[in-house]
Amino acid sequence: MEKISVIGAGTMGSGIAQVAATFNIQVTVVDDDPNAMDSSQKKLAKILNRLAEKGKILESDVPNIINHITWTSDLTQVSDSDVVIEAIIENTEIKQNLFSRLQAIVSENCILATNTSSLSVSEIFSVIKHQHRTLGIHFFNPVPLMKLVETIPIEDTDSTVLQNVRLMLQSWGKTVVEAKDTPGFIVNRVARPFYGEALKINEDGIADFTTIDWAMKELGGFRMGPFELMDYIGNDVNYSATKAVYEGTNHDPRYKPSPIQKELVDNGYLGRKSGRGYYDYSNGAGIPEPNKDVKLGNTILTRILAMLINEAAEALDQKIATRDDIDTAMTTGVNYPRGLLKWADELGIEKVASEIQNLHSRLNDKRYQLSPLLIKMLQEKKTFYS
Ligand code: NAI
Repeated sequence: MEKISVIGAGTMGSGIAQVAATFNIQVTVVDDDPNAMDSSQKKLAKILNRLAEKGKILESDVPNIINHITWTSDLTQVSDSDVVIEAIIENTEIKQNLFSRLQAIVSENCILATNTSSLSVSEIFSVIKHQHRTLGIHFFNPVPLMKLVETIPIEDTDSTVLQNVRLMLQSWGKTVVEAKDTPGFIVNRVARPFYGEALKINEDGIADFTTIDWAMKELGGFRMGPFELMDYIGNDVNYSATKAVYEGTNHDPRYKPSPIQKELVDNGYLGRKSGRGYYDYSNGAGIPEPNKDVKLGNTILTRILAMLINEAAEALDQKIATRDDIDTAMTTGVNYPRGLLKWADELGIEKVASEIQNLHSRLNDKRYQLSPLLIKMLQEKKTFYS
């Protein structure tokens, strides 16, 4: 892959261009908003200069990387690309329009990829004639720092295309997993209970935000607690990811959005970026003290972890990805301390199952349904890694 093009010079498109250019690939970046292009160019120069100051790249790398990128608002400039990665607004129709225009510009074998995080990849490409060269390439934000990339082939994607994309991404230092074209792919789906179950625990009056965050970090080894993380990601972004999976799965009760989060979003409490979310980030407000009762903390951890493992088992059962890719995606994409399926073996499938069954009988809520795969594994006394 010698020449790639990125459409959309926003957060993601700029990051993708930076990474490719760092690996000496010629990149053309297209955006129809001159302000977005200007700001992307300025931000990139700033980021690269900072990296050079910190000694992470050579000073001479800065102009070299910048010179590998061409910025334009003219889509026809991508005509000689080997790969085009689309990172524009998250809207199926607008993406379809773009790809319809693109297929008239590029060669029949130019790989066409979308960076969508919540839309159906096959629906986006349904307007394309030669679908063997189409797929989803889902990067994580910030692209230069996040190693994980999910590739999402659709029914007609050629296996050579998929393999070439994998090799290209690996040559950029990325860790590549493959996911089925289902809502949330791997990470955004399997991670849902980390937030949803934490919110449910709070709704049930069992613990406050800080105590839940403390339990997950201190006892579970997670880098951030669910509420801190939602505030960091942005409650609007996190809420719409939950809604996308909920709607994409025909309103599966497991993904039902929390009224607590909806209320925050409706009131503009979006998290760090708006100065307030679950926590108040205004000067001097500080984070309240958690209740460091280990027994309570373990109750919280076991409940969230069991639901995460159940979700990972469901993803495996529904062939969304392989065992190894599910574990890699969660440790690399969201920095979980251990792969969930590996964790299941260590904890014991029996313990996970009894936790979910207890929740089901105690709370009588359809969200607590044990994955058929876990039931089967219990009967056959199997583990994930053996
Ligand atoms: P953004 O809003 O920062 O950037 C989008 C850019 O696309 C803007 O500069 C806009 O001017 C440009 N644009 C819109 N329509 C266009 C068109 N028809 N032709 C050319 N340029 C056009 O958005 P962001 O956050 O970079 O997201 C882009 C895509 O990546 C979306 O599909 C999003 O769901 C996905 N994504 C976003 C992640 C994130 O954390 N921000 C993570 C993973 C995927």
